[in-house]
Amino acid sequence: MIISASTDYRAAAKRKLPPFLFHYVDGGAYAEHTLRRNVEDLAGIALRQRVLRNMSELSLETQLFGETLSMPVALAPVGLTGMLARRGEVQAARAADKKGIPFTLSTVSVCPIEEVAPAIKRPMWFQLYVLKDRGFMKNALERAKAAGVTTLVFTVDMPTPGARYRDAHSGMSGPNASMRRILQAMTHPFWAWDVGLHGKPHDLGNITTYRGHTTGLEDYIGWLAANFDPSISWKDLEWIREFWDGPMVIKGILDADDARDAVTFGADGIIVSNHGGRQLDGVLSSARAMPAIADAVKGDLKILADSGIRNGLDVVRMIALGADTVLLGRAFAYALAVDGEAGVTNLLDLIEKEMRVAMVLTGTKTISEISADSLVREVDHY
Ligand code: FNR
Repeated sequence: MIISASTDYRAAAKRKLPPFLFHYVDGGAYAEHTLRRNVEDLAGIALRQRVLRNMSELSLETQLFGETLSMPVALAPVGLTGMLARRGEVQAARAADKKGIPFTLSTVSVCPIEEVAPAIKRPMWFQLYVLKDRGFMKNALERAKAAGVTTLVFTVDMPTPGARYRDAHSGMSGPNASMRRILQAMTHPFWAWDVGLHGKPHDLGNITTYRGHTTGLEDYIGWLAANFDPSISWKDLEWIREFWDGPMVIKGILDADDARDAVTFGADGIIVSNHGGRQLDGVLSSARAMPAIADAVKGDLKILADSGIRNGLDVVRMIALGADTVLLGRAFAYALAVDGEAGVTNLLDLIEKEMRVAMVLTGTKTISEISADSLVREVDHY
């Protein structure tokens, strides 16, 4: 039974997904210290309980990049979401749309931009990686623009991929790994039906269509790994700034100096993130990185944050630390794997309910009232 946003969907996803897919979602880089700290540091932040303040009227609404969000939450880009449920990106996007929050399509989605964007009413957000193949990037940006994408999420914390040992153990990474896994999924009759593969690997992939051929994903991971670009610098982003006139958000900031550089660059927002502990193990959790970044740039651009947010209380904590809006990664991926669109809808409802309780009991009636004052400073290490 699903009661808790934090734990029940993860447990159910573990029961339902083929192990290689569960570990692909659940795992992090190296020894997974940062992955654990993301969750534990947030959970360890003490909320300041206040009482008797007439909390009958609450508003969770917030404004971001000219959009009204029903609550300060968006869905983060999660690659291969479409492996977790049939046309998974469409299902997750619909749940977010109905809830009144943004959905971000990953560069490495299963469903193409042209399938997901028209399936929802709100403008879709699109995430782009920095890749050596600038033609690929330009093509992806043109397609996103044509599909009506407004907000571009530019992920900069993957100039080189971090090693994910669970994927190496499961065969999800390594030569021809992607195809091997897809073939394995296709030999599992229920699973193959459920993700809509039907023995048609060419059905799988934005990537293959970006690349102008439809041969499947057999070399996808190899191609991607060879295409991460360690030479990237702020200067390289200028051509994207010229090309992209909508809001541009830099994802993967963990340091106040980099946040200041993002302001200088002219970014509309940053996402404080360590990629959910999937890149450099041992870096700060987002919760611990946030206060210094908020001190440096709050008000100069929008501060978004992800990594470790598992429930509505975590949303309130991250906002109290300085975020304007947060993103959910694994939390929605588990729910999607368990129950498709209905699972993500239910997860978002649970998160909203948890936020409401946290706001009533911290005496905060609106999102802008949530601040450092909503935390107990004496026992707070941050
Ligand atoms: C991700 N993340 C990610 N980020 C990105 O910019 N592009 C991508 O394609 C992906 N793919 C991806 C796959 C999976 C399975 C996960 C779990 C994560 C990172 C994601 O956007 C987000 O930063 C983290 O998921 C946030 O951490 P939590 O909420 O999962 O703890």
